[in-house]
Amino acid sequence: MGRFSRILAYFRPYILWLVVGAVCMVLMAQTDAMLALFVKPMFDEIFLYRSISFVWLIPIFGIALMSFKGLFGYLYGFMVNYSNAKATIEIRNDMYEKYLGASLSYFDNNSSGELMSKLQNDAFNMQDSMSITIQMLQQAITFLGLVAVVFYRDWRMALLGLVLAPLVVIPVVYLGRLIRAFTRMTMESMADLNVNMFETLSAIRIVKAFGLERARLVGFLKANERYFGYGMRSAAVDLLTQPVIETIITIGVAAVLFYGGYQVIIGRITPGVLFSFLTAIGLIYDPIRGLTNSNNQLQAAMASADRVFDTIDTIPKTPEKADAKPLPPFEREIAFRNVSFHYSGMGEKAGESVLRDINLVVEKGRTVALVGSSGAGKSTFVNLIPRFYDVTAGTIEIDGTDLRDVTLRSLRSQISVVTQETYLFNDTIRNNISYGIDRNVRQEEIEAVAKAAYAHDFIMGFPEGYDTMVGERGVRLSGGERQRIAIARALLKNAPILILDEATSSLDSEAEQTVQKAIDALIADRTTIVIAHRLSTVRGADLIVVLEEGCIIETGKHEKLLQRSGVYKKLYELQFALEDRALLGRPVQ
Ligand SMILES: Nc1ncnc2c1ncn2[C@@H]1O[C@H](COP(=O)(O)OP(=O)(O)O)[C@@H](O)[C@H]1O
Ligand SMILES: [Mg+2]
Repeated sequence: MGRFSRILAYFRPYILWLVVGAVCMVLMAQTDAMLALFVKPMFDEIFLYRSISFVWLIPIFGIALMSFKGLFGYLYGFMVNYSNAKATIEIRNDMYEKYLGASLSYFDNNSSGELMSKLQNDAFNMQDSMSITIQMLQQAITFLGLVAVVFYRDWRMALLGLVLAPLVVIPVVYLGRLIRAFTRMTMESMADLNVNMFETLSAIRIVKAFGLERARLVGFLKANERYFGYGMRSAAVDLLTQPVIETIITIGVAAVLFYGGYQVIIGRITPGVLFSFLTAIGLIYDPIRGLTNSNNQLQAAMASADRVFDTIDTIPKTPEKADAKPLPPFEREIAFRNVSFHYSGMGEKAGESVLRDINLVVEKGRTVALVGSSGAGKSTFVNLIPRFYDVTAGTIEIDGTDLRDVTLRSLRSQISVVTQETYLFNDTIRNNISYGIDRNVRQEEIEAVAKAAYAHDFIMGFPEGYDTMVGERGVRLSGGERQRIAIARALLKNAPILILDEATSSLDSEAEQTVQKAIDALIADRTTIVIAHRLSTVRGADLIVVLEEGCIIETGKHEKLLQRSGVYKKLYELQFALEDRALLGRPVQ
């Protein structure tokens, strides 16, 4: 029942609509009975008494009745659709908000395609649950009313006719459960379809470049086949429900026929009584049929409701304490104290330490360079500062305040992050630069940061300048251009703490030089933690931290570390020496 009351909670604001809708439905349903009721006087007045006034009245009454039915049918449909659509919107909003609040580790373990499918398909699938329930209520009321009538007529025969009725419950419950299970699997395969499609479309260049079309298609076909299989099974069970119910009903009617026929023969009842009784029994089974049908639909909707609520319930938020305070403006230092970290999740390496016992103090205004081989844990290290992930042991403090004691918003507003892949939104360049800035940003400010980021000139080269649409994820721009827009964005945000994670490593050397100049503008006056693959950045750093397998193994300045002949020296020879020689060998201009 928990599931159902949660659905109901989404409908609560529109409960009036639902109630009015239900009343309209009842009124609409009564018109048939009224029509049937009217048949007797109609026949008698016209054929028996030849009343002329009735010849007038009948068509008028007929039109009135049908208009009445049309009106209330329409109102019922409108109210129910309205509340369904509204509730679905609420559910979607809720889910999207939960997705946005989820911690990053959630997205490491749940694919975007699946999350999208749940928000679209499952939310849609559960939207009819309320109208089905209203229908079921109406059917149940009709059923009970008719039961009362037949028992009133002849309770013995009623008992006989309905003795099997409770049996109906067994197939209904059992088949309903099957339908729920199959619907669940149908929706899972639908999500698989989405995952496949989403991955393919978002990596369409790679798919084309590597000729992966067939491989991707095969994956899609398989998921589609599974979708078909479960959908068909669900339909087969649904179709099975009717014949099973019909058989049980027929047995009940046959029993009445047998007993009633005998009663007629021995003269205890008249044939008329038997017939009217049979009619009543027939009518009773109608709402039973309706109820089973509606139940199947409801179970399908519930399968989706389960998926939606499971998702909503299991999304972990990056926890923010109830008494979290805003972080005061950054003043002194960022301190890692005995920090260890491991990723949670389902991967084979889950639980393995990625960072071990890190101690480091980054003073305000300094630039700290993190170096280490690939997989050493550099990105992980910097991701802990904006709390993309939380430390699993130890603490990170800013000016002595544990990051977990402050609001995420205030923390992240003081940090800018520029990474290797830049994601721009499919919007104008102007909006991409000013995205997320709360205040109104003037054009001059945008141009100023764009100039500082060496982006203004190429932006003005576009016919539409700052109003140029960048395309999905910024595809219409080159990597270097995207990166400079990201830097302009960081400049505008003007956060005191800056994190650079190999911001230039995916660029060719020409683009890299321009971007590097932009980055230098960004670093000025900021506290920077930079993961660098360029010697010049490392050399200029106030402190170099060498990470190896999650541990800090050396710290110091460039020259000192080189003299020490340790890991840094080896790294230097592997990564930077070539560049160094190239720099030294370059003719002086
Ligand atoms: N989201 C993640 N989930 C699980 N493991 C991860 C995740 N990101 C990185 N790792 C693992 O953590 C280790 C360090 O990764 P990372 O910090 O990205 O290294 P670096 O940036 O130094 O190349 C690697 O072994 C990697 O496999
Ligand atoms: Mg990295």
